[in-house]
Amino acid sequence: MRHQVCIIGGGPAGLLLSVLLHRAGIDAVVLERKSRDYVLARIRAGVLEQGLCDLLRQAGVGTRLDHEGQVHDGTLIAAHGQRIHIDFRGLTGKAVTIYGQTEVTRDLYAELDRIGAPVIHGAEEVQIHGADTDAPHVTFRQGGQGRRIDCGHIAGCDGFHGVSRQTIPAAIRQEYEHVYPFGWLGILSETAPVHPELVYAGHERGFALCSMRNPHLSRHYLQVPLTDRPEDWTDDAFWDELRRRLPPDLADGLETGPSIEKSVAPLRSFISEPMRWGRLFLAGDAAHIVPPTGAKGLNLAASDVHYLSRALIAHRQGDDSLLDSYSATALARVWKASRFSWQMTRMLHRFPDEGPFLARMQAAETGWLAGSRAGQTALAENYVGLPW
Ligand code: APR
Ligand code: PHB
Repeated sequence: MRHQVCIIGGGPAGLLLSVLLHRAGIDAVVLERKSRDYVLARIRAGVLEQGLCDLLRQAGVGTRLDHEGQVHDGTLIAAHGQRIHIDFRGLTGKAVTIYGQTEVTRDLYAELDRIGAPVIHGAEEVQIHGADTDAPHVTFRQGGQGRRIDCGHIAGCDGFHGVSRQTIPAAIRQEYEHVYPFGWLGILSETAPVHPELVYAGHERGFALCSMRNPHLSRHYLQVPLTDRPEDWTDDAFWDELRRRLPPDLADGLETGPSIEKSVAPLRSFISEPMRWGRLFLAGDAAHIVPPTGAKGLNLAASDVHYLSRALIAHRQGDDSLLDSYSATALARVWKASRFSWQMTRMLHRFPDEGPFLARMQAAETGWLAGSRAGQTALAENYVGLPW
């Protein structure tokens, strides 16, 4: 089998790349290890920068987003006794859109079905061969059968645990990692959001976040020790702890109900350089992970895909300059968004081993932010997304 581009991984990065390439007349195949149902059952974040919304529209998958997405012009930060409304629209002229990543993925699959672009599910033992030659190929097994795809380029969109990054020789790869000493316990519940905007709460008991998917579906998180498991937390214990970490008026208005999903995720910052080796190009979580505090994971995957799709389209027109600059261009934005995610995480979480000095620094930072238009503008500019 031969395709111009072989995309490994059918998460949002791989699917979006495939749609954009097909629209430009480039034939791409997606290899996904799991089933479609499995991929669509994963609960992930849901804050979309304007750049991602525009890219989805450009990919022809903006209709449901434009009907069902909720535009948020700001967010509330409640920390160290301060209540800071960050007015994205007033400070930057931009906003974010609340629309679940699961819905983005669903829309992308529907579009790939419509245009007849191939997605191979249940692709096991994927291996990349000859990425540093002019004739790379990918082998895998499907239903016990060995298969091979010859291609011009390979896009490694297979997430943090995928094979693509590991294919780049260790001597070439430079990895940067910071692991945070806590996790986030998240629940999804069929309850009304506690506030019209997202609430990021920094409390001496730990961080909490009140997010949402729609007016009847809420997503809440608590900072918890890494040793906690979801089954250690009853729904009642979750709601009680969330109430303690919110400002009293919001806690009083919190609607509670049974959780329909509950999970713990560790927090990590990770960047692997370079994002290209020969004809292999990494995009999304395959190359970098951010802690979820700034909601940047999906958005960074989208900017990578934007840079990579336009580079592959230029290549077909005989211009390789964008392929050559892909890694540097993508990484420049990745580092900036990673800095923001790291800084939001530092500002709002309790770091159990760092003592009272850090706590006073955090209080000073939020005190400054509360009174500084410049500080709020900097936060807003990063939250709505730096330019592509
Ligand atoms: N072979 C084939 N597919 C693989 C392999 C493999 N060896 N390893 C992983 N995959 C698949 C996974 O099953 C998953 O569907 O690659 C996909 C990677 O998707 P994501 O982890 O969602 O990563 P990405 O598309 O980069 O999305 C980035 O979305 O999922 C979030 O946390 C993520 O917010 C981040 C953003
Ligand atoms: C979410 O809705 O899941 C969400 C929102 C904002 C974040 C992280 C997660 O910063």
